[in-house]
Amino acid sequence: MSKVSGKVAVVTGAGSGIGRQLAAELARRGARLAVSDVDEAGLAATVEEVKALGAEVHAAPLDVADRAAVLAHAAAVATHFGVVHQVYNNAGVAGGGRSVLDSDWAAYERTITVDLFGVIHGTKAFLPHLIASGDGHVVNVSSLNGIMAQPALSDYCAAKFGVRGFTEALRGELLAAGHPVRVSVVHPGGVRTNIATAALAHARGQGADVTARDEARTRLYNEKLLTMPADRAARIIVAGVEANRPRILVGNDARSADLLVRWLPRWYPRLTARLERRLSAAT
Ligand SMILES: NC(=O)c1ccc[n+]([C@@H]2O[C@H](COP(=O)([O-])OP(=O)(O)OC[C@H]3O[C@@H](n4cnc5c(N)ncnc54)[C@H](O)[C@@H]3O)[C@@H](O)[C@H]2O)c1
Repeated sequence: MSKVSGKVAVVTGAGSGIGRQLAAELARRGARLAVSDVDEAGLAATVEEVKALGAEVHAAPLDVADRAAVLAHAAAVATHFGVVHQVYNNAGVAGGGRSVLDSDWAAYERTITVDLFGVIHGTKAFLPHLIASGDGHVVNVSSLNGIMAQPALSDYCAAKFGVRGFTEALRGELLAAGHPVRVSVVHPGGVRTNIATAALAHARGQGADVTARDEARTRLYNEKLLTMPADRAARIIVAGVEANRPRILVGNDARSADLLVRWLPRWYPRLTARLERRLSAAT
């Protein structure tokens, strides 16, 4: 029997991509689910999917950037189920895709608020409930870009390196205090989801100047880099949680990046600069 069977698992950003597939994978393994997303239509589709898999599900619209809303959500989920065992802080957005020189402040604020503060909000809000469960697990989704920095992704790298640092500090604290809560940080490589397309749609919605080059870059990401099926990524993540892995690397690209930054710490920026030049030349 799966170790998550019967557990109450919270998944943020469950209306699409990795979050939806995490919810489905957890449902298949017998978990009870609390799913949320800022996108209510996407969330409704996930609820249908996990109900069809036989899961008991609590669903709520939630913006993880809204601290008060996340605290209220944690209280509501704990009241609904009486216990909370696992939180998957998964909700996130792609970065702005501009250099530091060209990025506007709004891009930094949005990416860091959603991708880093969203994770901090979810962790702090649910942690007392996870401790009370006697068998808790915090699962924070970082990225390959929480291990290896890349040009034109400084906002995303700042947030995702932040998720890694926050999560590793938390692990040490919980070990020192002897709390019954395990901690994993997840570093996915490229996964086939809506993340890059959603970033472009958001930029358009904000009235930003979306160029043909931005569109070509998004297409290139979707076709060449974001390739692992999201259900496969979810299986790797949940298996890593069941095995209590502190770091869960998803995909050969994430594993290679991890080795690259260890073996060539001084040289890897030259390699990422070369990649950036190639990406720029191709778009
Ligand atoms: N797809 C990849 O290649 C990849 C690689 C590394 C890390 N990740 C990370 O995986 C996580 C999931 O991304 P995905 O690829 O499934 O993208 P996705 O766009 O398919 O799904 C992200 C979900 O998060 C939701 N969301 C966005 N902002 C939110 C907010 N403020 N509050 C609540 N929900 C919000 C979106 O509505 C969407 O349903 C993100 O943290 C992302 O950074 C993805």
